[in-house]
Formats: sequence, structure tokens, C-alpha cells
Amino acid sequence: MKKTIFLFSIILFTKVYPQPVNIIPKPVEMKSGSGEFVLSGKTSVLINNDSDRHSADFFNDYLKKFYGIELKIIKEAKENFISFNHKNENSAKGPEGYHLMVNKNSVSLTGNTAAGTFRGVQTLIQLLPTDLKTATGDQQLKIPAVTISDFPRFPYRGMHLDVSRHFFSVDYVKRYIDFIALHKMNYFHWHLTDDQGWRIEIKKYPKLTEIGAWRDGTIIGKYPGTGNDGIRYGGYYTREQIREIVKYASDRFITVVPEIDIPGHDMAALAAYPQLGTRPDSVYTVAQTWGIFGKFNNVLSPTEYTFKFMENVLDEVMQLFPSKYIHIGGDEVSKIWWQNSEFCRQLMKEKGMKDAHELQSYFIQRIEKFVNSRGRTIIGWDEILEGGLAPNAVVMSWRGEKGGIEAAKQNHFVIMTPDNPLYLNRSQLKNDDSLTAGGYNPTVNVYNYDPVPKELNTQQSKYILGAQGNLWTEYISNERKVEYMIFPRISALSEVVWSRKEDRNWNDFKKRMATQYKRYDLWQVNYCKTPL
Ligand code: ACM
Repeated sequence: MKKTIFLFSIILFTKVYPQPVNIIPKPVEMKSGSGEFVLSGKTSVLINNDSDRHSADFFNDYLKKFYGIELKIIKEAKENFISFNHKNENSAKGPEGYHLMVNKNSVSLTGNTAAGTFRGVQTLIQLLPTDLKTATGDQQLKIPAVTISDFPRFPYRGMHLDVSRHFFSVDYVKRYIDFIALHKMNYFHWHLTDDQGWRIEIKKYPKLTEIGAWRDGTIIGKYPGTGNDGIRYGGYYTREQIREIVKYASDRFITVVPEIDIPGHDMAALAAYPQLGTRPDSVYTVAQTWGIFGKFNNVLSPTEYTFKFMENVLDEVMQLFPSKYIHIGGDEVSKIWWQNSEFCRQLMKEKGMKDAHELQSYFIQRIEKFVNSRGRTIIGWDEILEGGLAPNAVVMSWRGEKGGIEAAKQNHFVIMTPDNPLYLNRSQLKNDDSLTAGGYNPTVNVYNYDPVPKELNTQQSKYILGAQGNLWTEYISNERKVEYMIFPRISALSEVVWSRKEDRNWNDFKKRMATQYKRYDLWQVNYCKTPL
């Protein structure tokens, strides 16, 4: 009897699940149906609303690139179609919620808004076969019958990329944005300026890139290093290229948040415009080594010249980036420069400030006022809490969660990106002999992270907008290494920020990863293959 039941369930199981449905991040609700929809070159994509064209194009590009199939995108069809639609409804489930229904006659995907349709496309993509042997040529792709209702847990689901320490091409930044899109994330935090290179063209201040985008050498090996390679290194993005990237992201319903890191991490800007520093007659150079060294890395002096300069820079930045959020850095500002500056001491005295933290707060609050006057909101690293938080600032908590907890308690919005476990430049291997920022941060730690700290009550928890993985690139000098560091941790993070907390289950995730690895192979990403 037992045997019969067993056999029966195998048959049933096989019938209900023609191929494994392994979606990452795990959807809120999913019911498997029977049978499958067969996608071939004869299938059409039906869209009623032009704003779903981005979804249709993305799906079609994916099919073309990985399966060699191109579908017609049309407005009417009776059979053999995949329809993309949206309700224009920002329900309790948010603009990015979607409903996906696959049966043997059709596939119907309805987003709460066009962004929801786009997120749903990422699920549909994951229903496609991943077996490369069947995924070439003029084949029929079986999509298992399934009904999915899904929406994200957090409104901010981000990935960061530092292009200052190492520079990445426009094409590669687009590929990185695709990785973000494929994981249903919606923010790309672009770290565009730092001590080691200024990477965004600013029309009013051409020397920022003529001088600031180039360094005359780079430290070899792990800090303090074994020498300097003496090779001129650099690059920057033109305004045109930036517009192209912002549009590319926007077509994927991803917001690009630019970071202009001030008033510290500014050696590249100081090399170009020394009058911004506390020692204007010094010769500054674009940094060639890593780390923050108070004695060497000067910071911006809070003069009227500096404020006007940075306001002009931010004006151009805001012309290029429509994002509501503008990241102004604020981290690791070496206060000794201000303490040793006659001008700063005088300013502190005049304004009745008791220490240099208050001067930092004054700096950030002035910048915030300017950014707010343009209808935007600043994000700053958690150091901006010190000396008093700017009234409308969003805090990005990186030195653990402490800053985020404090900010939420002060009714400020927070993005969690604690170095442990969301710094993806740390090693995924226990005994890693490759060059990394050090520290051991395996995928399981990322997976088990929860962005809402236990210390917050229900009301305070509402201030947690979400979380983000950060990729600092001191030790990541090429594209393959970018991928090696983010994969598979980005897949774990996508579930942290999208899926319901009660649905998170490491063993279940590991099982679904078997299929996800096949997708990585399809995408030809260089992922870290250590067992999970
Ligand atoms: C940081 O890692 N300095 C934000």
C-alpha cells in the first residue's frame, strides 16, 4: 500500500511539476497548476499599454540573447500569447506587486504598475528552462503552469558599486544594472567620487576629471602593499554616458542614486582644485593607496567658496540624475584638518560649536538645505549622525546597525548596509588566498540578515526603507572579480529585501540555488563556486 501511494505521488508530482519551479527571491504566494505553456518563435507578446514596452523589450532581449528566440510584440492576439499589462494601482501591496498566471493557452502577467509588470518578468524568466542543451536553436520552451501573486517587503532594495578605486566601462555598468534587475532590486547606488578618482564629468569644473580622474600609480597588493605599479590609471563618465546609464536603469525601473562623497574622501577633487582644502597652497595628489589616513587625506574646508563649488557640482548632478535621493557621503572625515585650521577654529567659535563633529553637522546641514531646495533628499553615511542629524536626511548605516537604529529612533529613514554582512568585498571563503578586503562573509550570513533590528518597535521599524549590498573595489580591479564577489551573495540579498520574513528558509534557498546556478551559467557570470 505504502509503495502504491509512493508511486502514485511520484506520478502526480511529475504531472503537476513538469520542471522544478525555483524562484529567487521566493514569491509571496505560488500555486502550481497542471500542464505547461509552450513558448516558441510563433508566440507573441501582447501589450496594451506602452509603458509595458520596457518589460516586453527586456523579456524579448533575454529570449534572444539566451535562447535565440525573438517574439513579435503586438497589441492583439487570440492564442499563443504572453500578455503584459498593469492596473495602474498602487495598492497596499505596492507599485511593484504583480500577478502571474501561466496555463497551457497563455501567460498573463499583470503588474500593479508598469514597475510591477517588470518585476514579474523576472519571475517569468525564471520559469524558462535552464538546461543549456535544450536552450539553443529553434526550440520550444516549456513554461510550467503556475499562479503567482507577489510583492516586495521593502521599498529600497539596492546594490552599490564603487567606480573610484577601480573604473568600470559603461557597458559593464549596464551589465551590473542587469544583475540588479534580474534580482528584482530597484536601486543602484553609484559611488562616483573618492580619494582615488573623480569619475563624473562636471561642465563647470573640467579639472575634476582632467586631473581628478587620473592617478599616477596604484598600490600593489594588500595595504600597505609591496610597492606601487607606477601605471597611470583612471577614467570617467561623460554627461552623455551618464544619461545613457540613467535611462538604461530607468527602463528597468531602477533608480540610480549618485554619490558625491563630501567633505572627506576628496583627494581627487583637491588635486584638481586645491583651494577647496584646508591648506589651499598645498599640492594635493589623487590617492594611489587605500584607506583613510588622517595625516595625508585632507578634507574640504567649510568655506563659502567650497559651498558654492559643491552646490554647482550638485546642481549638475541633479540635472543628470532624476533620483529623489542624492547621496552626499559624509563618512570618515578626518577632523584633525579642521581642528588645525585657523579658519575652521574661527568658524566654530563664531557659530558656538563645541567640537568638529558639530562642524561636520553644519557642513552637511548646509548641503542638505541646498539639495532640499531642489526638491531632493540627501542620503548620508551614518557619521552624519555625529554632531546632530540634518533634518530630512536618510541615514545609510554601514558601521554595523547602530547608526541605523539611532536614526530610526529619531524618526529618520534608514537604509541598512552594515559592513557585516552586507559588504560584499569581504571574502566568501574561509581560507581565501586571493586578494580581498579580508573578513569572512559567506552567503549564509547575508541570507540570514534581517534589515529590521530587534531593538526597534513597530513604529520605529517603519523607518527602515530596506537594505543594500556594497561593493568597494580597492581589491576588485576587473569585471570577473566583481561577479566573483557579488555572486551568489546578491541572490541571497534579493531574498532578504524582497521575500516575506516568515518565508525565509536557508535549506529551501539552497535547494533553489541549484537552478539559480544554471541561470548564472546561462548569463555567463563568474560566480564563486564554494558550497553554500
Ligand atoms: C564606508 O565604508 N566608508 C562607507
